[in-house]
Amino acid sequence: LKKVPILSNPTNSESIHVAENDARKFSPSVQRNRDVIRDVFLELMPNKGHALEIASGSGEHVVHIASKAPNLIWHGGDPDQDSRHSLTAWIEHSQLSNLMPPHDIDVTNDHWGISEERHYDIILSINMIHIAPFKAATGLFTGVKRRLTKEGKLFLYGPFMHNGEHTSPSNIAFDQSLRTRNPMWGVRDLDLEIIPLAKKHDLQIDQIRKMPANNLVVTFKRDRVAL
Ligand SMILES: C[S@@+](CC[C@H](N)C(=O)[O-])C[C@H]1O[C@@H](n2cnc3c(N)ncnc32)[C@H](O)[C@@H]1O
Repeated sequence: LKKVPILSNPTNSESIHVAENDARKFSPSVQRNRDVIRDVFLELMPNKGHALEIASGSGEHVVHIASKAPNLIWHGGDPDQDSRHSLTAWIEHSQLSNLMPPHDIDVTNDHWGISEERHYDIILSINMIHIAPFKAATGLFTGVKRRLTKEGKLFLYGPFMHNGEHTSPSNIAFDQSLRTRNPMWGVRDLDLEIIPLAKKHDLQIDQIRKMPANNLVVTFKRDRVAL
């Protein structure tokens, strides 16, 4: 298959390649990190119920995880239409029965455009909150508070600052490159921004795992006091 570089994707730091006559996008970074993210996901998260992925991008992560989580029904999606086409193609290619058609949730929209009754055992977001304005993080937590089941968990993956400090020179450089591309993007501070935002929405940290390349997995659960 001939690989064709797509240079117009405004939201991914690396070019994504797609094969001709095949809508699936292939992200080099996903090929590198999908196994370690899946391993930690399978260890930390509930293994049955409904899982909602926000900002699926190419869709490679959700399909990769779903293939080893057969008792979870997966709802991936993205506000970006090209990404949804890629996810649809990945779903068809996988032939898995636990992957639902893509949603188009933009977390900054009130109520996410889905029924108020719909709740999820897992909400997952990989590499979104730093590659979007901060209002996306706010919208994510607002929606999670509304949509997570009582025992449900939120799973975030990406780079984070700690108490105003970057954790590596590569994260400093990445943060600068994000802010050059869009001044409203940037690596978020776990202690000063994200934990306070979670608290405001009655969520607390469940687990933190260090991941390769100075990334973290951070999971949240509902604050017991608020239940
Ligand atoms: C860097 S990509 C990450 C894609 C995928 N999760 C991954 O790790 O390869 C960021 C994604 O966030 C999505 N996004 C940006 N703002 C969003 C919002 N307000 N609501 C939902 N998704 C958003 C973009 O469309 C894009 O697909």
